[in-house]
Amino acid sequence: MSTSAPPSRDAFASTLGAFAATLGSAIGLGNIWKFPYLTGSNGGAAFVLVYLLAVAFVGLPILVVEHTIGRKMRLNAVHAYGTVVPGQKFWAGVGLAGVAAAVLIMAFYTDVAGWVFAYVYKSFAAFLSGSTLDSKTFGALAGGSWEPLLWQAGVLVLTTAIIASGVSKGIEKVTKTLMPALFILLIICDIRALTLPGAGAGVTYLFKPQLSKLSASIVLYALGLAFFKLSLGMGTMTTYGSYLPDDVRIVPNAAKVALADTGVSLLAGLAIFPAVFAFGGKPAGGPGLLFNTIPLIFSKMPLGGLFTMLFFVLTAIATIGAMVSLIEVPVAWIIEKGHMTRRGAAILTGVVMFALGIPATLSQNPLLANVKLFGKSFFDLFDFASSNVLLPLGGLAIAVLGGWFLSRPEFKAEMNKGYATEPWHGRALFGILKFVTPILILLVLLSSLGVIKL
Ligand code: PHE
Repeated sequence: MSTSAPPSRDAFASTLGAFAATLGSAIGLGNIWKFPYLTGSNGGAAFVLVYLLAVAFVGLPILVVEHTIGRKMRLNAVHAYGTVVPGQKFWAGVGLAGVAAAVLIMAFYTDVAGWVFAYVYKSFAAFLSGSTLDSKTFGALAGGSWEPLLWQAGVLVLTTAIIASGVSKGIEKVTKTLMPALFILLIICDIRALTLPGAGAGVTYLFKPQLSKLSASIVLYALGLAFFKLSLGMGTMTTYGSYLPDDVRIVPNAAKVALADTGVSLLAGLAIFPAVFAFGGKPAGGPGLLFNTIPLIFSKMPLGGLFTMLFFVLTAIATIGAMVSLIEVPVAWIIEKGHMTRRGAAILTGVVMFALGIPATLSQNPLLANVKLFGKSFFDLFDFASSNVLLPLGGLAIAVLGGWFLSRPEFKAEMNKGYATEPWHGRALFGILKFVTPILILLVLLSSLGVIKL
């Protein structure tokens, strides 16, 4: 590995800042919307169990490699991967695939973020008029045409403006202060949901695995979610690693991020499923699960309308942190290529994302509902192609790179900075990275393609 560390480069000011910013990228719709929705559509606890294993044996080691390479190289992702092994430029492909993944993710992510922003407005309006939101509210919004598109465009303009003006560091400050608020509100939700009559069935659903429910496709979804949740396999965390101060101990920091992120997902699950069962709903409620369940939970509380609004406000803020980190991947790359200012790059990226976002958003509308590519709607296809194909492939390459191609002493020295001798967790993690992580990813990808049968 060769190192180049221009002294003028931005860096997080403190260890806590580095932790909070990384968490700001990780925590988002993945925890609050996608985790419950996929858990509900894939049979509950068995899915959760595979997801937890995927975080421990795949997500965590890859997060460590991304942070290590990022800090060592102190460059944007495409450039970092392209130069990390002298003479092997082709690793830049990891960064380029990441650019593609970021664009695909944003196409459907902004659709869902648009729903969240719309719910901020709708819950406030409902509170003022003394009414509550119900499943018709969501159906009309998601299945509409102009309404979801306008919200999506608004979300993109907002995020692009943040990126263009280079104030994403300011956003990190906001996220840092509001993340604990989201955490507390989730706990309030949990308490309310868990004390509803019949809530126990939801807890069982979430935590008592029925292994017979497992299939190759469920395992692939759980793996894909682990990548998506921790923003892995596409260079985001490499870029964040490039801002990590030298005194951050990479392995413990990554472990804390993985734990906190998983904790928030589980808290969201503990609000949704007990309520779904208590209200006699279906866990497999699809992408609308969150939007239909949260207003119901709060409707059983004093000032529920206000709490509903607060919930969506905090979720909206969490989505901004994640979206900023997503847009930054193509933007950093375009700027680095030369020819374009930050502003131009941000606008170009926003326009491309919106162009792809239109078919994703309209795939819930009768107009495009029946248009399928590879048997999937545009929304599902973009999600599948990014989370379940590009991110795991990127992750596989990163794991192989970290475990087999980088200079081992240099890699370990960077990863274990802050320790006088190699700590046990550094040694364990390296072993997992080298032998377990790539094989697991490969097995899951091959079995989901039907090449092998597990
Ligand atoms: N981790 C984010 C979330 O859970 C989404 C994301 C994926 C962000 C990939 C950056 C890169 O919402």
